[in-house]
Amino acid sequence: MSSAKTMQAVLEVANLDTSFVTASGEIKALQGVSLHVNKGEILGLVGESGSGKSLTGFSINGLISPPGRVMRGTIRLHGEPVLGRSAEDMRRLRGRRIAMIFQDPMMTLNPVLRIETQMRDALRAHETLSRAEARDRAIAALDEVGIPAPATRLTAYPHQLSGGMRQRVAIAIALLHQPDLIIADEPTTALDVTIQGQILALVQRLCRERGTALIWITHDLAVVAGIADRIAVMYAGRVVEMGPVDAVLDRPAHPYTRGLIDSVPNRNSRGRRLRQIPGRMPALTDLPEGCAFAPRCTHATPACAVMPEMRALSHARAVRCVHPLSEAPG
Ligand SMILES: Nc1ncnc2c1ncn2[C@@H]1O[C@H](COP(=O)(O)OP(=O)(O)OP(=O)(O)O)[C@@H](O)[C@H]1O
Ligand SMILES: [Mg+2]
Repeated sequence: MSSAKTMQAVLEVANLDTSFVTASGEIKALQGVSLHVNKGEILGLVGESGSGKSLTGFSINGLISPPGRVMRGTIRLHGEPVLGRSAEDMRRLRGRRIAMIFQDPMMTLNPVLRIETQMRDALRAHETLSRAEARDRAIAALDEVGIPAPATRLTAYPHQLSGGMRQRVAIAIALLHQPDLIIADEPTTALDVTIQGQILALVQRLCRERGTALIWITHDLAVVAGIADRIAVMYAGRVVEMGPVDAVLDRPAHPYTRGLIDSVPNRNSRGRRLRQIPGRMPALTDLPEGCAFAPRCTHATPACAVMPEMRALSHARAVRCVHPLSEAPG
């Protein structure tokens, strides 16, 4: 599949700024975030804690609430603007065309309702269905995400299921209406490695089969390497590098991406000390003038005191850096 921006883009985000407006001033949490996801494509969104991954997902899904606010930018779903819609319109869009899977499946599930009731409610929020039809759809959906004896599980309450099973139910609910876009925010982080692998493979297969666009948010580069087609790396509220996942992980252009990769343990690093990026991400209230990574960057020069634009390295790759690493392709 072409990774360039095409007419196939399901989601296009351009120059998105999201802030928290407080009595002590405006906290600029996202600045100039631009990204796109094509049909059937998986975009891995990575970065350290606090870099703005979840807020990007929430901004797209219309889930930013005061004092948070999307200040400017455009978000388009199949070319149609998403920002500026009424709350009612956004509710219709959520669940039906854009679905979210959270780290904690209990963000989706209600602890005091049986699975059947929850799935029926989710279906009926967007479709007119009889009880029997809803039940059949729910059973099919649970079956599709690999839940054994789905008819029996319908009578269960969430606490009667394992963490992995609960997450599968949350995924089944996200997929109920065949959304155009799924935003998955660290949905496997709380699960053990085997279950995590199964769920990754499952979501990847379902998205491929249905042509669903997927944003997979994680701080785990190994997960991104395994699931994503493209990767967007965030730092201090901005996308700093984007491109096909193999190219970026093999030959990163941004020194921050290089640092992230070097701090992941692998076979070659066994027994050696991992290279951590020195220093820490600046607070959003204390961002430097130019590149926010410059204070930690061994390549920084006075030129980095001016915020670099995101610039293309090739048709598929872009980086926000004055001194992109020479190992990256032109
Ligand atoms: N309600 C809020 N008020 C003020 N600042 C906020 C609020 N919510 C988030 N932020 C700030 O926005 C920044 C980005 O938060 P976000 O949750 O998107 O990070 P993240 O990349 O998802 O991190 P993590 O990996 O820890 O989930 C954080 O630095 C956080 O301090
Ligand atoms: Mg988050």
